[in-house]
Amino acid sequence: MVTDGLFGDDLVSQEVVAQLPEGYRVRSLRSTDFATGFLDCLRVLTTVGDITEAAFIERYNFFAKQSGTYFVLVIEDAAGKVVGTGALVVERKFIHNLGIVGHIEDIAVAKDQQGKKLGLRIIQALDFIAERVGCYKTILDCSEANEGFYVKCGFRRAGLEMAHYY
Ligand code: ACO
Repeated sequence: MVTDGLFGDDLVSQEVVAQLPEGYRVRSLRSTDFATGFLDCLRVLTTVGDITEAAFIERYNFFAKQSGTYFVLVIEDAAGKVVGTGALVVERKFIHNLGIVGHIEDIAVAKDQQGKKLGLRIIQALDFIAERVGCYKTILDCSEANEGFYVKCGFRRAGLEMAHYY
């Protein structure tokens, strides 16, 4: 079992580290994050469900085995509690000369920590990883209500999301 994270500190932007509030830390998700408030942090985004620690670790281990694909990061506060998270999923293509596209997913900042630029830092940290692993672009879906946030993070509207639910 991988216990030290999905990716190493070499993929953590030092520019982001320098701009975090005092005592805060940005790092990879770890298999031990069941106990640090990661799932509660995600609950500000949507329904998470009643996930057991075993199920959490099983999913974590699946991510860890897909080398170079899942980059889930967290921001922890000075007490070691997860207060922000975001994911980059890296898709390898045939088109665009074997192009690589980053998908930004599941961005969440704990309610009482919003407005401190943690969301911006999460996006900047994921952008850093995307560039380092060779993505030529990153894309994401969001609600109209969050468009302004992503514009402030440097994104622009491009295309239209469509969905089939099963
Ligand atoms: N609309 C317009 N501007 C916004 C919004 C918004 N909804 N949210 C933040 N901003 C602005 C801030 O005012 C700030 O602007 P400034 O630089 O002029 O001061 C800038 O964006 C950066 O804001 P942060 O402080 O970094 O934002 P925060 O840490 O509060 O995180 C987030 C924003 C992630 C949207 C947070 O509110 C949150 O977790 N919301 C609930 C979950 C959610 O909706 N997540 C995004 C789903 S989409 C996806 O995952 C791809």
